[in-house]
Amino acid sequence: MKSVFYGAVSATALIASAAYAEPQAEVLHWWTSGGEAKSVAVLQEEFASKGGTWTDMPVAGGGGDAAMTALRARVLSGNAPTAVQLKGPAIQEWYEEGVLADISAVAEAQGWADVLPASIAGHMKCEGTWCAAPVNVHRVDWIWANADVLEANGIEMPTTWDEFNAAAAKLQAAGVIPLAHGGQAWQDATVFEAVALGILGPDGFRKAFVDLDMDTLKSDEMKAVFDQMRTMRGYVDENFSGRDWNLATAMVMNGEAAFQIMGDWAKGEFMAAGKVPGEDFLCASVPGDGFLYNVDSFAMFNVDGDDKKAGQDLLAELIVGQNFQKVFNLNKGSIPARIDVPLDEFDSCAHLSAKDMSESSDNGSLLPSYAHGMALRGAQSGAITDVVTAHFNSDMSSDEAVNMLADAVANSM
Ligand code: GAL
Repeated sequence: MKSVFYGAVSATALIASAAYAEPQAEVLHWWTSGGEAKSVAVLQEEFASKGGTWTDMPVAGGGGDAAMTALRARVLSGNAPTAVQLKGPAIQEWYEEGVLADISAVAEAQGWADVLPASIAGHMKCEGTWCAAPVNVHRVDWIWANADVLEANGIEMPTTWDEFNAAAAKLQAAGVIPLAHGGQAWQDATVFEAVALGILGPDGFRKAFVDLDMDTLKSDEMKAVFDQMRTMRGYVDENFSGRDWNLATAMVMNGEAAFQIMGDWAKGEFMAAGKVPGEDFLCASVPGDGFLYNVDSFAMFNVDGDDKKAGQDLLAELIVGQNFQKVFNLNKGSIPARIDVPLDEFDSCAHLSAKDMSESSDNGSLLPSYAHGMALRGAQSGAITDVVTAHFNSDMSSDEAVNMLADAVANSM
């Protein structure tokens, strides 16, 4: 089917002049859960309403590991998709391979520099040119809870890790699964970095996961992070292995479990199921200061054909457009990347996110998520996640874990 389609596209491209090229885009992404699919549909609809033809290339797998494997195969075979969900330093890594299209003409015509915070714009640039378009700001360091389960057990949202552990022990004794978790490497990493932010504090987090400072990686505080991970391993159910993140969210929704530590794409799942924040579910940042951001974005790959190039320009324009940034993020659980989108229609969790993000930006505690590919290149973040997962799924001591962590990071450089 695919080759027939491509054949038809290139035949059209041959007869269409640039001025009349009809926008085409094959879009690779990993947004396949309920809330995610609803969100990406907003872009598909806007694209179609402007005359574009969208070919969907969803690659299931939270966190995007499978999507990135699929991308590499496509690029190596000389057949890159038109547009790809890509973020953080991976954007610059692909740019260095010479395969990204320059979208500066759209960015300049639309004045992106005036409507994006400098911290976000920086991720979208490659040697001064614009090479990606941001869709949102997801916060990673959240705890989600089932409101009724907490109330029935006389538990408040925890504000320290000790409170969290006490609440979890109480829930466990009452027969509730304290922590809904999916045992996939990226989910282990997501919980780990939220715990690390809380225990190391924003400066310690930056030293460990942005600067890769060996003393911090091997410190007693880092041992305490692994200690807390070991404690939390005791709060997940025995079927956690391999579970998808959205199924873990569903366990909180239906009251089987009390808490989930996950980015606010989990809120997209609650909302898609008609749940109301503050009533059905609660959100709070994890114990400790700081804000871990995860900005989704799309990069355009070098492709032939005026129709595909027109598709890339149209997509870039729509993605940073005000309407898309509002409607997409209402569904996705994130907040807009643009600073000039009114938040009136957003819920209390989104308002908290926007407020905390701006305060963190002012006091230097706004930090890139390592687990979601915002802080480090793939080799380094992969090395850290391997250790985090190995520790979580064994009886490895915290001493062993920090030594292994420091070695793995050193060997990855
Ligand atoms: C993140 C991505 C989010 C969400 C999540 C789960 O890495 O930034 O948009 O999709 O994975 O798939």
